[in-house]
Amino acid sequence: MTGTPDPKLLRAALSQFATGVTIIATKEDDGTPRGFTANSFTSVSLDPPLILVCIARSAASCEVFSGARHFSVNVLSEEQKDISGLFASRRTDKFDIAPWHPGRTDTPVIDDALAWFECAHHDLVDAGDHVILVGRVLDFGQGKGRPLGYFRGAYFTLGLEDPLVDAVARNTNTIIGAVYEQSGRVLLEVEPDTGDLKVPTVGDTTASCNLTALKQKYDETQLSTAIEFVYAVFEDNRTGRVTIYYRGQASGPAPAGTGFFAFDDIPFDRIRDSAMRDMLERYVGEARQGGFAVYMGDEIEGVVRPVG
Ligand SMILES: Cc1cc2nc3c(=O)[nH]c(=O)nc-3n(C[C@H](O)[C@H](O)[C@H](O)COP(=O)(O)O)c2cc1C
Repeated sequence: MTGTPDPKLLRAALSQFATGVTIIATKEDDGTPRGFTANSFTSVSLDPPLILVCIARSAASCEVFSGARHFSVNVLSEEQKDISGLFASRRTDKFDIAPWHPGRTDTPVIDDALAWFECAHHDLVDAGDHVILVGRVLDFGQGKGRPLGYFRGAYFTLGLEDPLVDAVARNTNTIIGAVYEQSGRVLLEVEPDTGDLKVPTVGDTTASCNLTALKQKYDETQLSTAIEFVYAVFEDNRTGRVTIYYRGQASGPAPAGTGFFAFDDIPFDRIRDSAMRDMLERYVGEARQGGFAVYMGDEIEGVVRPVG
């Protein structure tokens, strides 16, 4: 490439980078809340805890954010697509429509965000037609659900495979399970007589094999669970059985007959099903590295495909 790039082509190439979606919010000196949709959010540093977001100089709220002492970053879930659209507009009544509450620094925080970060102004960097706002994280938290994604100028969500999973489960010899994680530990069912371990599933011992049954498995207990996205799919060529594992999150105490096992402490030799054991070993390895991929294949040989 020589000279100035064609802005259209450059924008198209940049849009191949898939991101999440956030709302950046603050308050004016007179208390008026201001906010806009941004996908330029990036984590920068853990020590000190810094994040950044890029604001177009043309944005109506650019001046307010450039001078704000505090602001919040709110990571949207797939249920919050409307909120993204609202805050990407120039409407002045955004905070009358979207539910929010004041955070610790009195900065607006969007209700039910997947994660939120309350920040103090740390730096403002001049960057062409944008300014880079660097914030120091003062407070943060996280909710549950699946993220709202943005790719090639359009939203995407990760849950579209759910009806497909149910359709497969209705028609074949299928097992659906979930690797539920809580603070670096995985939930496993413990066989009372032998001490054997297994990932929670429906379809093998339960009559109904569908997502609702999986989601309701611990309804009668104090454990709250949330399914996130498909993590592994494989077919046992000998039996024709299809196994689908979701990745999920859990919070609360382990119900009777189950236990939480730290990643480093999973007694893999007590997991009898070799395909389940392999899947979980891979899960733990990837969780340590911080990257996840979807596994597809049979019980012996599989292909790993990136999520998304
Ligand atoms: C998915 C998405 C991501 C966006 N990311 C950014 C961004 O990172 N920075 C930015 O300045 N504008 C971004 N925008 C555009 C602003 O949200 C939009 O210009 C908005 O009107 C700004 O609000 P304001 O004019 O009230 O300040 C994005 C819009 C969408 C839909």
